[in-house]
Amino acid sequence: MSVGSEGREGFTSRFGIICAAAGSAIGLGNIWRFPYIVGDSGGGAFLLIYLGFIILLGIPVMLSELIIGRRGQRNALGSFKRLAPGKSWYLVGVMGIVAAFMILAFYSTIAGWTLEYVIKSLGNAFSGKDSGDISAMFTSFHSQAFRPLLWQLVFMAMTAWIILSGVQKGIEKYAKILMPFLVLLLIIMAIRSITLPGAGAGLRFLFQPDFSVVNSSVLLAALGQAFFSLSIGMGALITYGSYIKKQNNLGNISVEVSLADTLIAILAGVAIFPAVFAFGLDPSEGPGLIYTVLPNIFQQMPGGYFFSIIFFVLLAIAALTSSISILEVVVAYMTEELKMTRKKATIMAATAAFFVGIFCTLSFGVLSGTSIGGLTIFGVLDFTASNLLLPLGGLLIVVFVGWYMKRTDVRDEMSNSGLLKIRLFNALIFILRFIAPVAIAIVLFDSLGII
Ligand code: PHE
Repeated sequence: MSVGSEGREGFTSRFGIICAAAGSAIGLGNIWRFPYIVGDSGGGAFLLIYLGFIILLGIPVMLSELIIGRRGQRNALGSFKRLAPGKSWYLVGVMGIVAAFMILAFYSTIAGWTLEYVIKSLGNAFSGKDSGDISAMFTSFHSQAFRPLLWQLVFMAMTAWIILSGVQKGIEKYAKILMPFLVLLLIIMAIRSITLPGAGAGLRFLFQPDFSVVNSSVLLAALGQAFFSLSIGMGALITYGSYIKKQNNLGNISVEVSLADTLIAILAGVAIFPAVFAFGLDPSEGPGLIYTVLPNIFQQMPGGYFFSIIFFVLLAIAALTSSISILEVVVAYMTEELKMTRKKATIMAATAAFFVGIFCTLSFGVLSGTSIGGLTIFGVLDFTASNLLLPLGGLLIVVFVGWYMKRTDVRDEMSNSGLLKIRLFNALIFILRFIAPVAIAIVLFDSLGII
């Protein structure tokens, strides 16, 4: 165990940090959420807007979070308290903790589905089925109560168990090992998908922009997806930033993690959309998209039986390295600010999130008729956390670093007290002060009808 400044546990190596931060970013957001949001939002134009948001807003917000965390040396709330004593900035941390709870609740629902699909793959359940059978299989699974809840519980317990084993042994160890395999597998699946007859329509859907479908809700969806996928806006990376040692280059980490995250999302898109069109499925079918599309691809692949098992196992692991970063936001807060033991904090937080998660899981079954403002319980949690709380958190985070923190402090943190040459510092400050806050505010408030 290495001990960072102020005796905090920290990540041991640069590779470990990249893996942990990338492990947080890369998850269901890339492989489950990205494709279905692209499908809902009409394809190519969404992708371009999304990429623009990643570069212009995502990377600056990510960097800002790491700066706040490493300088504050505390959890998401405590770091603000420390850097802005006596001010209300800690409320950004409070918002982040609320968002973390909501996301953990529905994240565990979807991750639970992934575990069910590991078992289905092991049992060779897709063999000989056509796309209609595969869709029916998914519907009959998610509309039950017992199995989805059981898997959700299993996933939440796994998340809690890793968090209990501590920062380093837990997060770093698990994050390091398996992600390269997931990328390899996605590449193989993408190749199979684009060589299916009729695949061209899917590639056109993903890459040919049609700006006539863009409206304020598409912009908001792209903003929410960018924040969700990069794990930004709620303090997960403030928390991780506080575990990063002084000699690491925060600017590079932000760019590398964002790049990896984006490439994997696009790869997932290339694996999925050609198959959606080749099998005559509906790109806008919603949160079930990958579960109804991917089994069809495995069916058409030599060795598909093994690939499907490995894929769903790796997806579950990718989900775990993300869910631990979400739970860690809450646990770091409870241990540092409320002085609870790590064990008590983890058990309490995971239990509470599971409890909320029950309603979310059932909203795909017995509670599917319950709607609030036209959304299911899952929809409300996802929309509120991803599209409202994360962007609002991100907005306040860039304002904090751009306007509240002293420029010399920001420079000091980015250059590791003058050791690193930093390029584009003034451009970054300009983005943090003007471009990012204004852009986020316009998208957010426009879609809410405020402006
Ligand atoms: N970025 C993660 C994913 O893509 C989810 C996440 C959101 C993690 C917010 C932390 C904070 O799956």
